[in-house]
Amino acid sequence: MFNEEQYFGEFGGRYVPEALSSALDELDRAYRRLKDDNEFKHELESELNDYVGRPSPLYLADNLTSNLSGSKIYLKLESHNHTGAHKINNAVGQALVARELGKNVLIAETGAGQHGLATATVAARFGMGCKVFMGEVDMKRQYPNVYLMRLLGADVIPVPHGTRTLKDAINATLKYWIENIEDCHYLLGSALGPHPYPAMVRDFQSVIGREVREQIMEKEGRLPDMLVACVGGGSNALGLFHPFMDQENIRMIGVEAGGRGDGPGEHATRIAVSQPKPGIAHGYLSYFLQDENGQLLPTHSVSAGLDYAGIGPEHAWLYKEGRTEYVSVRDHEAVEAYKVLAGSEGIIPALESSHAVAFALKEAPKHGGDHIMVVNISGRGDKDIFITAALTDKDNWKNFLKEEACDV
Ligand SMILES: Cc1ncc(COP(=O)(O)O)c(C=O)c1O
Repeated sequence: MFNEEQYFGEFGGRYVPEALSSALDELDRAYRRLKDDNEFKHELESELNDYVGRPSPLYLADNLTSNLSGSKIYLKLESHNHTGAHKINNAVGQALVARELGKNVLIAETGAGQHGLATATVAARFGMGCKVFMGEVDMKRQYPNVYLMRLLGADVIPVPHGTRTLKDAINATLKYWIENIEDCHYLLGSALGPHPYPAMVRDFQSVIGREVREQIMEKEGRLPDMLVACVGGGSNALGLFHPFMDQENIRMIGVEAGGRGDGPGEHATRIAVSQPKPGIAHGYLSYFLQDENGQLLPTHSVSAGLDYAGIGPEHAWLYKEGRTEYVSVRDHEAVEAYKVLAGSEGIIPALESSHAVAFALKEAPKHGGDHIMVVNISGRGDKDIFITAALTDKDNWKNFLKEEACDV
């Protein structure tokens, strides 16, 4: 049955097996009630302030701004949150909802490990069990987070199927949820999946944009001209964009992973291609990278968190409405931006966020100094050391690994 509240235009919905419908209904009802409940709002706010460390800073990148001689560049530093990324905002919110539902186990999928880490963290915080499903390829490239999740008491379950990345982890988590629906809450990590996840995750992440609105008014006395964020499933971007939707003259740019080429399996650009393709997977209707039979195509990105064939349904709708714009950045440009930000501001961004920085490096010089751009640094780069050190400091890194391996 078509239920308007479940859709963003034609996108979104709830395409799930019967076994999940009642759990999603229960979640939907609970979330609708709690989001307007003062006690819930108060508890969420104090967790965000005292545990996560909000508000995160809005920092004027003055070295970068003067080096590029263009837009005034502000960085929203979600990297400074507890656990090092925006993912914790949503994890705290959903853990409180799960507790209200009487669930005592949190299950989650993760790509970059940041969402798994955030889920394992809140599970420890609220005394819940935790299982995190992660593709084998992602476990290898984001090993520091695998170690940390286990340290926090989570059971990290390798997913050996398919491309062994995020899409396979989502499938495995959905399957486990169907089999264990009574005790478990599926703490989904991005603004995608079946209703009510896309709207609920967006709401929990909108704290990012609400803070930016206040902070920029304090610093500049006006709102910015452009907002920039990387887009995996789309939660950090929507979190930044959403509180500015009433401002028609603010441009909102989502940066997708352009990988290493345009061929199938070489990138994860869903919208910034010549013709985005609508389809249904993982419980929702949106744009997906897919073959002629509707099977999801393999994807590639240097950043595990952007390496996914789908994009949240609200992005698909906003794009179709012409409200948001999407561009694509190659792996090597993101790695270069990672180095530039480290060297110019002493801030090491996650490889995901480095895609947004790479776009800013190209865009800023096109504007004058009266143009204000806010770039979301969705996470910090510590987790990427096994990738970036191998790319930017290969010989030293190899020697270090060899010596460490001999010592163990
Ligand atoms: C630091 C960071 N940024 C961005 C993303 C992409 O997710 P989303 O598009 O939901 O913000 C991830 C996903 O793992 C991430 O870890």
